[in-house]
Amino acid sequence: MITFVSVLKYEQVKVNAALERELAAMPAPLRDIVGHVLLAGGKRLRPLMTLASARLFGAEGDGLYDVAVIPEMIHVATLLHDDVLDGASSRRGRVSAHVLYDVPRAILAGDALLAAASHKTSSFGRPELLTCVSESVLMTAAGETHEIALQHSLSHSHAEYVDVVAGKTGWLIRGSCRLGALYAKASPAEVDAISDYGLNLGIAFQMVDDALDFADESETGKPTAGDLEEGKFTPPIMKYLEFLPRCDREGFCEKFRNGTFTLEDRARIAADIRRLGFDAESRAMADEYLDKAERCLDGLPQRFEQKLFREALEFVRNRKS
Ligand code: FPP
Ligand code: MG
Repeated sequence: MITFVSVLKYEQVKVNAALERELAAMPAPLRDIVGHVLLAGGKRLRPLMTLASARLFGAEGDGLYDVAVIPEMIHVATLLHDDVLDGASSRRGRVSAHVLYDVPRAILAGDALLAAASHKTSSFGRPELLTCVSESVLMTAAGETHEIALQHSLSHSHAEYVDVVAGKTGWLIRGSCRLGALYAKASPAEVDAISDYGLNLGIAFQMVDDALDFADESETGKPTAGDLEEGKFTPPIMKYLEFLPRCDREGFCEKFRNGTFTLEDRARIAADIRRLGFDAESRAMADEYLDKAERCLDGLPQRFEQKLFREALEFVRNRKS
C-alpha cells in the first residue's frame, strides 16, 4: 500500500540527490559547513509539500525537484541561524555547525543558502515564485524576532504563542505548498487554499515540535528540554508552571527568566512533563489547526496528492521525531 511515509521515503532519495547537486554548485569554501546540515538526513517534509502541491495542480516531470529543493535550502538556512541564536549543541543527531566550525561561518553558511535559494528561484523567470519565497523568508524572520522579544518572559498569552509559531514555522510550510501550486499555474483560489492548508499544518507541526522538546535526545536528535534553557514559554512549560505548588513557582520562574536551569533540572522537569502528560496535552492543541488544514482541501482536485495531503495531517499529529 502506498502511504505518506512510503512516498516521503521514496522522494527523500530524489530530493537528497537534487540537494547534493545544489551543494556541489556552491563555492568551495561553503561546501563543508553547508553540507554538514544540508545532508544530515532531515525529513524533507517541505520539498514533499512542494512536489505534492505542484502535482495536485497538474505539473509533472523531474524538473519539479529543482523547485522542491528551494524551501529545504531556506529551512536549513534557518536551522543554521537558529542553532546560533539558541546556543544549541546538536541538530539532526550531529554536533551543531556553529560548534563544529564557528559562529561567523555558521551565519555566513545560512546567508549563502538563502542567496542560493533566491538564485534558484529567480532561474525560473517567474516573479510570482520569487514573491512567494521572499515573503516566506520575511515572515519566518519576523516570527523568530517576535519569539526573541518574548524570550524568558512568562506572561504572554497562548494567542501570542500561536502568532510566533505561525511566523517562525507556519509561513515556510505555507510557502512550500504555495510554491508548488504557483509553479503548476493553479487558479488564485486554489493557490490560496493550499497556502492556508500549509500555514495551519505548519502551526500544528511546531506545536508538536514543542511537545517533542521534552522527549529524549536519542529520539529527536536535539537536546532535551532546550526550550527551558532558551526561555521559550511553550504550552508544556505553561502547563508545568500551572501545576507547580506555589512554594516552587518562584524558584522555577527565576531560573526561567535567567536561563539558569542545570542539565539535571532539565532532565527532571522533562521526565515530570512526560509523566504528567503535559506533552501529550500540548500535542492535542495541534488538532484545531490540523482540522482547519483539512477543511482547506475540500474542493481541491481529487488526485492522489489530495490523499497525501490528508495523510500528512496524521503524520504531523503522530510524529515522534
Ligand atoms: C526552530 O525553532 C526555528 C525556526 C522554525 C525558525 C528559525 C528562524 C530564524 C532563525 C530566522 C532567521 C533566519 C532566516 C534564514 C530567515 P526551535 O528553535 O523552537 O526548534 P528546534 O528545537 O528545532 O531548534
Ligand atoms: Mg532552536
